[in-house]
Amino acid sequence: MSETVFTPASTYRPKEVAQQADHSRVPGGSYEASRAAPTSSRDQILKRENRCMAIPAADVPVPARVRALAGAATLDPVWRNNLGGVTFRATDADGIRYVKWGLRNAETSMRAEAERLRWAAPFTPVPPVLDEGRDATHEWLVTAGVPGLSAVDPRWIAEPARAVQALGRGLRALHDALPVVGCPFSWSVPERIANAAVRGIRVPDDLRVSPPIDRLVVCHGDACAPNTLIDDDGAWTGHVDLGALGLGDRWADIAVAAMSTEWNYGPGWHDALLDAYGVAPDATRLAFYRQLWNAT
Ligand SMILES: Nc1ncnc2c1ncn2[C@@H]1O[C@H](COP(=O)(O)OP(=O)(O)O)[C@@H](O)[C@H]1O
Ligand SMILES: [Mg+2]
Repeated sequence: MSETVFTPASTYRPKEVAQQADHSRVPGGSYEASRAAPTSSRDQILKRENRCMAIPAADVPVPARVRALAGAATLDPVWRNNLGGVTFRATDADGIRYVKWGLRNAETSMRAEAERLRWAAPFTPVPPVLDEGRDATHEWLVTAGVPGLSAVDPRWIAEPARAVQALGRGLRALHDALPVVGCPFSWSVPERIANAAVRGIRVPDDLRVSPPIDRLVVCHGDACAPNTLIDDDGAWTGHVDLGALGLGDRWADIAVAAMSTEWNYGPGWHDALLDAYGVAPDATRLAFYRQLWNAT
């Protein structure tokens, strides 16, 4: 049986996403940064975010592979990323698991994500890997559900101060928990530039030399708000989407987390994010890693 290939995502503005009544119960049913085109101006970034935000329709077709992986479980689409990949929540008597499915691509792979999840699991709360695989065109990852709602669930969009605090604390805890010594993965600036080159993206010369590393940590690699889960009391419960996890300057993550507060909650939350993380602003590194993110 052939699998359904989704057409490009429809677009949403942040407020519209937060107000989607049909999706109010959907964890993580919101939008995420696109990395489609290099740019550095704030306006361009925000325009680009608006263009690429996506939320799956409630009746999105279920790919045959996802149905086979889910068995008899009830499937709800919770997320569509900017590559057209979709994550479904699968619910049955055994509980909740998530089936992430999408086109194979040169940026990362679900095999790489599964490897990183397994490595990180002893140190910090991340989804337990249940299954992972690929065929000629697509790949998939099945994980057990982590408690909590995505930080961009409408419940948390409505309470940005608490959500941003959880994001900052969660990111700090992740950095403090994952051991640098023995980490086999890298998310260094040269590797990110090389990864972009494979995808046909040439990073501008002024982003090829990074500021000296402030603190080497194991970075999340995609520390935008949707990838942190938060419980009812406002405490972070875990991180998802770790396909790029690897060693890097902590500012590589902090810059993305701070920038994503603007995408997801509007302007004015940068300082609260830094406060919750427990660091004073470093304008040079914030600017560098923000631009690198948008250029790759
Ligand atoms: N194991 C899990 N437990 C809870 N929520 C999950 C889990 N896996 C995925 N999700 C939800 O699905 C969303 C999409 O998964 P993610 O791995 O971030 O995919 P993408 O790479 O497309 O962003 C997440 O933001 C989160 O809300
Ligand atoms: Mg994600």
